[in-house]
Amino acid sequence: MLETLKPQAEDKIIRLMAQFREDPRDGKIDLGVGVYKDATGLTPVMRAVRAAGAELQASETTKTYTALAGDSQFHAVMRDLILGDAVPASRVAAAATPGGTGALRIACDLIRKARPGARVLMSDPTWPNHPAIAQDLGLVPATYRYFDEASGTVDFAGMKADLSAISADDIVLLHGCCHNPTGANLTPAEWDELVALLKAKGATVLVDIAYQGFGDGLEEDAYGVRALAKALPELLIAASCSKNFGVYRERVGILLALVPEGTETALVQANLAALNRLNYSFPPDHGARLVQTILTSETLTADWKAELEEVRLSMLGLREQLASELRRLTNSDHFDFVARHRGMFSRLGLSPEQVERLRVEFGVYMVGDSRINIAGLNTESVPKLAAAIAAVL
Ligand code: LMR
Repeated sequence: MLETLKPQAEDKIIRLMAQFREDPRDGKIDLGVGVYKDATGLTPVMRAVRAAGAELQASETTKTYTALAGDSQFHAVMRDLILGDAVPASRVAAAATPGGTGALRIACDLIRKARPGARVLMSDPTWPNHPAIAQDLGLVPATYRYFDEASGTVDFAGMKADLSAISADDIVLLHGCCHNPTGANLTPAEWDELVALLKAKGATVLVDIAYQGFGDGLEEDAYGVRALAKALPELLIAASCSKNFGVYRERVGILLALVPEGTETALVQANLAALNRLNYSFPPDHGARLVQTILTSETLTADWKAELEEVRLSMLGLREQLASELRRLTNSDHFDFVARHRGMFSRLGLSPEQVERLRVEFGVYMVGDSRINIAGLNTESVPKLAAAIAAVL
C-alpha cells in the first residue's frame, strides 16, 4: 500500500531551515522562517511566559483532559485580546487548536462541512500553507491582487477590483496584520473601505492573525479584525500565540467563530468541538494555560506587553537601519518600503537568481520569493545584508 503514496512537495520555508542548519560557514545570516530572534540570535522564552510556567508548575494539580474545545477561560482571554469589546462574547464560539495552523485547518474543515468545495480567495502572494491546507480539504484556492512588487506597497485598487467580482458563496482569507510574506498592510481607512465592500458582497471572511503586537501595537494590529467583527454577521478568525507569546513549540492557537446577532453559538460550538475530536481529540493545553495565566494576571500581562513592545520596537529599528543602509549603498530610495512595512517580514522584490546568489555567495538565507525575516538581523548584520543585496542588484 505505502508504495502507492505520491511524493510530497517540500515546504520551501521548512526546507530553508534545514539548508541553513547544514551550512558550515561562519557569519551566515538566517532570514528564513518566521521566528523572532534577539540581537544574539536567540529566540528567548519571554519573561512572563517563564513566570507563568513556574506558577503553573507549583499550582497545577492535574494533567487530566480539558474540554474538547479547550478551556473556556482561554477562549475568554483570547477573545478579549483579539476582539476587545467589538462584539458581545455571546456571539463568539471558540476552540483551542494546536497553533495558528491548527486553527486554519479547523476553519477550513468547518467551511468544508458548511460549503464543500467552496472557493477560498487569498492574497497574491500569501503564506504557502494557506492554499495547501484549503486544497487538502477539497476547497478551491483562488487569488486576489494584493502586492505591487515595484513599489513594495499594497495594490489596494487591484484588491478591491478583484474582491468586487466575488459572490456570496466565496470565502475570503485576509491577513489580520503584518502580512506574510510581503510586510505591506492596509491602513485603517483602507480596512474600512474593504469591510464595506465585503459586507456588500456577503461573502464569508476568514482572518488569519498570527502576529498581533508585532506591527503597530496590540490594539492597532487588531483594527481590521475588529472592524470586520463589528460589521459582518459572521466571521472566522484563526489566531496564533506562537509569535506574540514566543511559545512556538507549545502549539497555541484558537479559532473564533462569530455567529449572527440573535442566534445561538451552540450549533457552531458543537461543530468546533466535533472537529477537534475528529482531528486530535483534545487540543494541547500547556501553552494555552501559560497564555491564560499571563492574561488573567495584571502583573504578568503588563510585563508581557512591555517585552512584546521591546520586540516590536527592535524590529522597527532594524527596518529603519536596513532601509537607510540600502539608500546609501544603492543611491536610491527604492528600498524605503522596508521601513514602512510592518511585522516580521518584508518582500524585497529580488529575482530567484538574486536570492540564490545571496545564499551561495554571501550565506544569506531568505525565502525564494525574497521574503526576509527582519528579526533574523541585528545591528551588525544589517550592513552585511545591505552590502550583499547591493552586490547582486
Ligand atoms: C513563517 O511563515 O515562516 C512562519 O509562519 C512559520 C511557518 O510555519 O511557516
